[in-house]
Amino acid sequence: MTTGPVQTEQQEIDLGKVDGILEHHAMERSKLIAVLQDVQEEWRYLPEQALRQVARRLELPLSQVYRVATFYSAFRLEPRGRHLISVCTGTACHVRGAPMLLERLEQVLQIPCGGTTSDERFTLEAVHCMGCCSLAPAVRVDDQVFGLVRAARLDALLEDFR
Ligand code: FES
Repeated sequence: MTTGPVQTEQQEIDLGKVDGILEHHAMERSKLIAVLQDVQEEWRYLPEQALRQVARRLELPLSQVYRVATFYSAFRLEPRGRHLISVCTGTACHVRGAPMLLERLEQVLQIPCGGTTSDERFTLEAVHCMGCCSLAPAVRVDDQVFGLVRAARLDALLEDFR
């Protein structure tokens, strides 16, 4: 049985940690969602090697593990940066400059929307209305919402998270 570190294209996965999570949940197949939540908390996404280990140790078909991992939108199959930058592209934000903010962030971070910087510091995404339209255009970094954001202010805003 493989329990040592596994080098993947994205990062090294310590399968011993996956085993620890499984043991914490008593190796219960019925706890699959909780196991995946803990795996995602550890790596900020669900690495393929971790999903394979979960399937192997719980003696579940890998397809079943993937079915659960892809059913819930809270689960991510791609690596996520330490900071998640969400640009609101709802109607109010769109008309007040969201496309320019997104474009500026793509340039500064050198990633497309949906991407993660190579140092895994930032992930950039576009989201629908955040519910604070009077502050449009709005940008959220992790759980902090910034309103009335101007493109010129973005560099300073990012500095606080570097
Ligand atoms: S449209 Fe952006 S907060 Fe509502």
